[in-house]
Amino acid sequence: MNYNIAVIPGDGIGPEVIRETVKVLDRIADKFGHKFSYQELLAGGIAIDQTGKALPEDTLSACKSSDSVLLGAVGGWKWDDLPGDKRPETALLGLRKALELYANIRPALLFEELASACPLKPEIVKDGLDFVVVRELTGGIYFGEKGTKETDMGHAAYDVELYSEKEVQRIAQTAFDMASKRNKKVTSVDKANVLESSRLWRRVVSETAKEYPQIELNNMYVDNAAMQLVRDPKQFDVIVTSNIFGDILSDEASQITGSIGLLPSASLTTGNFGMYEPVHGSAPDLAGRDKANPMAAILSAAMMLRYSFGLLEESDEISSAVRRVLKKGYRTPDLMEPPSEENTDMTNVAPAKKEVGTKEAGDLIAEEICPFILSAGKA
Ligand code: IPM
Ligand code: MN
Repeated sequence: MNYNIAVIPGDGIGPEVIRETVKVLDRIADKFGHKFSYQELLAGGIAIDQTGKALPEDTLSACKSSDSVLLGAVGGWKWDDLPGDKRPETALLGLRKALELYANIRPALLFEELASACPLKPEIVKDGLDFVVVRELTGGIYFGEKGTKETDMGHAAYDVELYSEKEVQRIAQTAFDMASKRNKKVTSVDKANVLESSRLWRRVVSETAKEYPQIELNNMYVDNAAMQLVRDPKQFDVIVTSNIFGDILSDEASQITGSIGLLPSASLTTGNFGMYEPVHGSAPDLAGRDKANPMAAILSAAMMLRYSFGLLEESDEISSAVRRVLKKGYRTPDLMEPPSEENTDMTNVAPAKKEVGTKEAGDLIAEEICPFILSAGKA
């Protein structure tokens, strides 16, 4: 099959990790007989520099006519002083809104091979971790009315958190559907003891739960959820929450899995279309130094094959190639562990870890997928 992929490398380490991702996708195409056509598009800081706009119209229309969007990262110090509505991040928010990508799926998976990279005590994460954050992505305080006004306490600013029943219902359905294919448990996170919008959220999620009698629903306040994530993360299967709470909790979740450099995400609408991006940002301090971990972007492409194209075997092939590379001991700098007392104890010598850069990590993963084609191509 032929698939048209809109590719937005963006800023910072975005172009580097996307280059490796395309390399891996090409290898999948060779192995399974597909054709991926890429259309490279501008968005973020680079688009501001070249066109004056963070999200040029051409980019948006090309995304709309593609089968899916693959995005690196946007933003960087260079554009930090721009006013809020001109910043590179507006490209991301604009794409999410215009493409109606209301469901953001962020899996938090602790790879067995990286158990020691997890900052939590081994007894807390025994046998790994596997849960998913489903974040509402096109509503709430990120998109509510905002402004400034004068008050008797001086100049003030506000952002409105607003959710409609429909918005809550559709994201709740996404979470329940996901839990149906997993461990059948949904934790809905809100602040219903204080916020009116959260009370509506909790009511609608609870009503929606009635359509899914096989799923256990648990409601939890966000402050407690932040604590439970480090105290007992194994209690979670699917966490569903608002835009801002999901932004915060998914970063926390990524950290307890060892490296944000490993976590992919999918932003979905109804139907098959989606936008796929690593959870990490543009990391301008790492840009151009061959130090970024391309695995989160590569695993985002695996999510694209699964959710947008229905290519399950191909998707699993990418995930298992990443795992095999980790199993062989290859590590990008973010995954290298500092030598610990345990490692110097000769009765418990950890397998040697080989540090690799962005490009070599991508080569190794591509090679795992289809070594034969590589040598044939070279001949
Ligand atoms: C994310 C990012 C974005 C967000 C920023 C860059 C606008 O932090 O995807 O989590 O807050 O949604
Ligand atoms: Mn974030």
